[in-house]
Amino acid sequence: MGSLLKNRICDLLNIEYPILMGGMSWAGTPKLASAVSNAGGLGIIGAGAMKAEHLKTAIDQIRLLTDKPFGVNIILVSPSADDLVDLVIQEHVPVVTFGAGNPSKYIEKLKNAGIKVIPIVASDNMARMMERMGADAVIAEGMESGGHIGEVTTLVLVNAVCRAVKIPIVAAGGIADGRAMAAMFALGAEGIQMGTRFIATKEADTHENFKNLIVKSNIRDTVITGARLGHPARVIETRFAKKVKELEVTSLQEAEEILVGSLRKAVVEGNLEEGSFMAGQCVGLINSIKSVEEVMKDIIKEFNIAVAHLVEEANKLKCLEVRI
Ligand SMILES: Cc1cc2nc3c(=O)[nH]c(=O)nc-3n(C[C@H](O)[C@H](O)[C@H](O)COP(=O)(O)O)c2cc1C
Repeated sequence: MGSLLKNRICDLLNIEYPILMGGMSWAGTPKLASAVSNAGGLGIIGAGAMKAEHLKTAIDQIRLLTDKPFGVNIILVSPSADDLVDLVIQEHVPVVTFGAGNPSKYIEKLKNAGIKVIPIVASDNMARMMERMGADAVIAEGMESGGHIGEVTTLVLVNAVCRAVKIPIVAAGGIADGRAMAAMFALGAEGIQMGTRFIATKEADTHENFKNLIVKSNIRDTVITGARLGHPARVIETRFAKKVKELEVTSLQEAEEILVGSLRKAVVEGNLEEGSFMAGQCVGLINSIKSVEEVMKDIIKEFNIAVAHLVEEANKLKCLEVRI
């Protein structure tokens, strides 16, 4: 039997703490991912729009920066998805997470190569299907999260997915501290994945403008763009985001056009006029830029305090029961 923090996710991924860095296009660089892995979590390279040769370079880089396990995130809408899957097999990457779609056709191939497969799901039905197809775990990502999103909140989704499947569940979306992690564990999750929190770190290569926007935003400062285009994404409400939303009403084509390349402009250039600053509602819970190690240590400490508090309260209840 594992303990709360030494559980099936730690065993599966061979990591110290059940904390995953979300795979993030442009922002999920080898430097940031290696910092998360070196701090005891699972760092994940965001393959995003990369072609196989770019991902190969990123894998070579992370291997110079850490000897701990790491993962690669592949988005299924990528035209290079087939090549990326072949590459992670060739490279014996320990873990693959999948976003934006149904990865069923790749699961057997990856598992035969000894790779752990963790799809991201936005519904309990999808979680059931992934379990049937042989996924090792699932990431249940709620609509509070940054980037492309589903329609159900983390609180309800994680609860439903925990009822639906027996494989381990990682909760994602809106988590930026140890109290939220404890809440997810109370629902039955055995790990958390964070995106926005890891962008606001010293090791993130993301532009300072992006990090500063996260720090100064509050919980109501994100909006959903792209919903009318069929690919809703949560972003910080900048002038650009307002413009996209207006165009979605007046000209879908123009909205689509200005969105092309806009995440790169935000992450790499910090371009406040033309960038999509994808981030979750938890921007309002993040008040400073820390090192990755500080983020990890603080979360584990807050988690332990939150759990201890609940245990204390439960013990008081037991005393009352005895007296009654
Ligand atoms: C800038 C950014 C880019 C992202 N890109 C991807 C991606 O390429 N693939 C993916 O599966 N998820 C992506 N996500 C989602 C994250 O992996 C993660 O699940 C999410 O950020 C968790 O919610 P949080 O931001 O509230 O922590 C992205 C998120 C952000 C903020």
